[in-house]
Amino acid sequence: MEEILRVENLKQHFVSGKGILKKGYVVKAVDGVSFSVARGETLGLVGESGCGKSTLGRTILKLYEPTEGKIFFEGNDITAISAKQMRPLRKEMQIVFQDPMESLNQRHTIGMILEEPYIIHNVGTTAERREWVKELLVKVGLPKSSAERYPHEFSGGQRQRIGIARAIALKPKLLICDESVSALDVSVQAQILNLLLKLQKEMNLAIIFISHDLSVVKHISDRVAVMYFGKLVELGSVQEIYDSPQAEYTRKLLSAIPITHPRDRIRKKSKQFTEHVA
Ligand SMILES: Nc1ncnc2c1ncn2[C@@H]1O[C@H](COP(=O)(O)OP(=O)(O)OP(=O)(O)O)[C@@H](O)[C@H]1O
Ligand SMILES: [Mg+2]
Repeated sequence: MEEILRVENLKQHFVSGKGILKKGYVVKAVDGVSFSVARGETLGLVGESGCGKSTLGRTILKLYEPTEGKIFFEGNDITAISAKQMRPLRKEMQIVFQDPMESLNQRHTIGMILEEPYIIHNVGTTAERREWVKELLVKVGLPKSSAERYPHEFSGGQRQRIGIARAIALKPKLLICDESVSALDVSVQAQILNLLLKLQKEMNLAIIFISHDLSVVKHISDRVAVMYFGKLVELGSVQEIYDSPQAEYTRKLLSAIPITHPRDRIRKKSKQFTEHVA
C-alpha cells in the first residue's frame, strides 16, 4: 500500500500556567507518536478526553509547530517548511470539525462558503466556481438550491454535509475528521459515516478519523490507533484491536465501551422522540 502520511516520534508540548512570577509547567499533549497512513485508508484514532487526539491532528496539519519529530506527506518532509511552502499543501490536507456551525460564516450563503476555498487558492473563473459549488452540493447529498440559503436554515446533519463539502472542494488526499459525527443523533451519524465512506471510495481519500466513540470508529476504520496520555499504546487492524487487544489500556477502553456519554444518550432519546411527534 502506498503511504501518504508518516509521522515519526512526533511531539507537541505546551507550556501552561506560565506567568510573570510562575514558571509554568509542560503539558505533553503528544509525546513521541509514530505511524503511517496509506492512500485511501481510514485510520481511527481513539482515546479518552484529553489524551491528545485533536492536538495530534492539528500538529499533522501544521496548525501547530511540532516540538520534536518529523511529518512526511507523500514522502516529503514537511516538518520545517515555511508557511509559503505549506500553502499548496493546504489543498491536499483538510479537516472536518465537530460542529461546522462554529466555522461557517453565518452571514454568508452556502454558495459563498463553498466558493471560498477556490477563491483563496485562486482556481477557476467565477462561472466555473459556481458550477463546482453545485457539483459539490450534489456530491454530499444536498439540493443545488442550498447555495442560496444560509447556515442557520440547515439541520446539524446537513451542516456537517456542508462542512464536508467545503473540506473536499479542493480534492484533498488526506482528510482529518475530528469528532465529526459526535454531536449528531445516531441515525444521522450513520448517514454522515456512509457519506464519508462513499467519498473516500470516489476520491481515494485517506482519512484520520478521531473519535472517543469506539463503535463509530469500528464501523469506519481499516486500522485503529489507541492513544493514552500523548502516546500510542497500540495500533492494529480493526479485527486485531476489537477482537484481540494486546495493550492493557485498550482492553480497559473496550470493556468500558462508553458508546455515548449518558447525558448524550438521554438528549438523543428525547430529541428522537420529539422528531417522531413533529
Ligand atoms: N493550545 C494548548 N495549550 C495548552 N495546552 C493544550 C492546548 N491544546 C491542548 N492542550 C492540552 O493538551 C492535552 C490534550 O488535549 P487534546 O485537545 O488534544 O485532547 P483530545 O484527546 O482531543 O480530547 P477530547 O476527546 O476531549 O477532544 C490536554 O491536557 C489539553 O488541556
Ligand atoms: Mg479533541
